[in-house]
Amino acid sequence: MAAPIEQVRREMTQCRAAPVTVAMAEGDGIGPEISAAVRRMLEAAGAAVRFDPVTLGEACYLEGVTSGIPPEAWDSLREHRVLLKGPITTPQGGGYKSLNVTLRKTLGLFANVRPCRAWHPFVTTRHPDMDLVIVRENEEDTYAGIEHRQTAEVTQCLKLISSPGSERLIRYAFELARAQGRKRVDCLTKDNIMKLTDGLFHRIFDEVAREYPEIEANHLIIDIGTALIADRPERFDVVVAPNLYGDIVSDVAAQITGSVGLGGSANIGENFAMFEAVHGSAPDIAGRNIANPSGLLLAALEMLRHVGDPATARTLQNPWLATLADGLHTADLYREGVSRKRLGTAEFADAVCQRLGREPAGYSERAPGALPSAEDTWRPIARRPEKRLHGVDVFVDWDDHGRDPNRLGDIVAELAQGLVLEPVIITNRGVKVWPGGIPETRCTDHWRCRFLAPEEAAVGHAEVLELLARFARAGLDFIKTEHLYSFDGERGWSLGQGE
Ligand code: NAI
Repeated sequence: MAAPIEQVRREMTQCRAAPVTVAMAEGDGIGPEISAAVRRMLEAAGAAVRFDPVTLGEACYLEGVTSGIPPEAWDSLREHRVLLKGPITTPQGGGYKSLNVTLRKTLGLFANVRPCRAWHPFVTTRHPDMDLVIVRENEEDTYAGIEHRQTAEVTQCLKLISSPGSERLIRYAFELARAQGRKRVDCLTKDNIMKLTDGLFHRIFDEVAREYPEIEANHLIIDIGTALIADRPERFDVVVAPNLYGDIVSDVAAQITGSVGLGGSANIGENFAMFEAVHGSAPDIAGRNIANPSGLLLAALEMLRHVGDPATARTLQNPWLATLADGLHTADLYREGVSRKRLGTAEFADAVCQRLGREPAGYSERAPGALPSAEDTWRPIARRPEKRLHGVDVFVDWDDHGRDPNRLGDIVAELAQGLVLEPVIITNRGVKVWPGGIPETRCTDHWRCRFLAPEEAAVGHAEVLELLARFARAGLDFIKTEHLYSFDGERGWSLGQGE
């Protein structure tokens, strides 16, 4: 028989840990509704946390704080080092930076951990056995946010993958697998196309995996990897991926557990942790008291384990499951014939609080895995390789002569006369168009002219500057350059398609 609520509360109060203060931002859109619901459930369960409310997001953006994070919020974050955060709306246009990305990067929250498990039989899902954890890189990749418009037609986003950043993240994924007794880590990249950036991530994955022989390590190309996660998620255990792929695949995985509203996530750094739902601020349903607070609740339970109150995390997960087991579902989970009643956000929280002390029937909890703490695993490269300059890619904005690549080829061949750097190829959107391109290739106004020196020749900045001076004199608008280096004799640039 279930214990009376007051007795459960009394017992929980007696055994709970000393309270820890955490910063709490309620967020935008559905944020205030789900945050209030989660806070009420935590307080009812006697969680050993106090909240220091901070204001972040839309209101701050609209007051002219372009980061969305005012100085007093930074003070609170620095003081408490743990943040429970509702979803934030990043206003479109106007140069506003995503606050989520800023927080993750400024606070060094390098690992975004997103557990995606089925809550079978309480939540309808086609994948009752799925129980995977996605460990997404959080600071690099295209999310470095370095973008430029370079010509009238072409924009560019820089994808940065570093070896210390990848190693730290991948090591964390294996440590998590070890701490939670998980058997396999899958790495997702697109290194068949991005051989240098994703190739580096994959290579480091293989290297780190050798240190964990008891854990099966496997690499998949992101497209088939995502398809397999969507189709057979129960085959996966821990998944590690660069930032963008990890972001996409974790929404897929959260959705197929039953609803994206069920996804919680932890952002882990060496001295700081932030807990949030996987989903966004859902402006389409904001203010209607219909959002599911479960994603933020599950993130909050992870936070409780992090601050040393695993008992309340356990205590609160049970009534939450018991509520679902009773068929009391928010609109996103409601299924005719399966659910008993459709509840609003606040009523769902009430129902959970009423079930404190109850365990869901027919459910055996797999011990919720602890997250390993983030050790100081940032390892700058130990030995700097021998770096040698061989040439340069000069990108030009060129819209003359009907965009005939052969005319551009003639121009650059002539201007480089007598220089050590010789033109070898011109590409347009990565495809070779000179020498010997084909007329069917559609060309933009953005051209890459590659210059290389003969193998024995020495090349330095002076040779590059001389070449660029000739570009300027010829009236060619060079918009960026990339140097072509080798490292310990290994080519550090990709070949153009058709090169
Ligand atoms: P979204 O996740 O907010 O919404 C996608 C769909 O899922 C919508 O139909 C929404 O109604 C539904 N949904 C989301 N959460 C739900 C919940 N708890 N219960 C029931 N249904 C739920 O994604 P969207 O629309 O792309 O983004 C909206 C805003 O959120 C944007 O400004 C975006 O930048 C921001 N965002 C913020 C994140 C964060 O703060 N960590 C993460 C992702 C997006």
